[in-house]
Amino acid sequence: MENKVETNKESAKKRLFSAIQPSGDLTLGNYLGAIRNWVVLQDEYDSVFSIADLHSLTVRQEPAALRRNTLSMAASLIACGIDAERHPLFVQSHVHEHAELAWILECNTMFGELSRMTQFKDKSARHADNINAGLFTYPSLMAADILLYNADAVPVGEDQRQHVELARDVAIRMNGLYNGVFTVPESFIPKYGARVKSLADPTKKMSKSDANQNAFVLILDDKDTVVRKFKKAVTDSENEIVFREGKDGINNLLTIMSAVSGKTVPALEKEFEGKGYGEFKLAVGETVADALAPIRARYAELMADKEYLTKTLADGAEKAAYVARRTLSKVYKKVGLLQK
Ligand code: TYM
Repeated sequence: MENKVETNKESAKKRLFSAIQPSGDLTLGNYLGAIRNWVVLQDEYDSVFSIADLHSLTVRQEPAALRRNTLSMAASLIACGIDAERHPLFVQSHVHEHAELAWILECNTMFGELSRMTQFKDKSARHADNINAGLFTYPSLMAADILLYNADAVPVGEDQRQHVELARDVAIRMNGLYNGVFTVPESFIPKYGARVKSLADPTKKMSKSDANQNAFVLILDDKDTVVRKFKKAVTDSENEIVFREGKDGINNLLTIMSAVSGKTVPALEKEFEGKGYGEFKLAVGETVADALAPIRARYAELMADKEYLTKTLADGAEKAAYVARRTLSKVYKKVGLLQK
């Protein structure tokens, strides 16, 4: 179907949107799966980035920690290379249109669709005492984030693919009902790093909510910590450094090394042929730690200037709200809400 959507874009570039929850520090998984692509793609697109604080309320948060983590996430993203002077970086709750569009989309998202979301199933199993309605409708809020900006591309890790698919389905459905409301978005998933696994159990994804501190690497971990975590990484009882089915631990380390060093997996297999796992794990740890060192340094500088961070987020919200307001008002009109 031809896309006749008026997208509120100032430039001819395609629009990119992505977001991250402020529920703790950035992990190497977030970095390799998503943030690195945000940085690489930001100038090629008309980019908009958000810190999804409303999403993090679907799991119970300690209020003071949530506030702290939101500001710290802004510093982390800028330290990773997001150019917040040129591309709006804002806090989701600062642009109230997100919650408002989410309601309209919830009324156009089916119970069956939301029930099929694997992340809902996983999270409700993990938080059995708090299976709240927000956890269930979370993908509609995420669709609102994306569709408010008429995003063409959404760079995410593999675990968010299904949610972006749902945003597409809802956009297509509403375009059919209301004649060209939204741009239909597409996920942008990296070849290497889209599914970074836990270092403690390489069959699971690396996640900051893992109880085992050795399971994940944080981008703010110091060199000794990074190296120690990699030295402890679970591998297998063989001694061959090759990418092969059944070798989840080695596959994960090869993928991380490839994503960070820019070398291909076959080149790495060759480089480490005949070497022991200990030597390999040390090399991966040191390569990752060296890549993260400048980010840590920049983060410390940024956190020393809270005023700058607050101002940057306020500017970002203002720019984002300008676009969001126009989209929401168009949607309200299209669905038949009486104009003021
Ligand atoms: P979140 O905060 O869980 O993760 C942020 C980004 O990091 C990616 N990621 C990973 N990639 C590779 N390996 C891993 N182990 C790994 N863990 C996390 C995620 O895929 C994601 O891209 N619902 C989203 C945030 C969000 C959003 C949006 C994203 C809210 N609105 C709109 C895109 C568009 C989330 O919880 O991501």
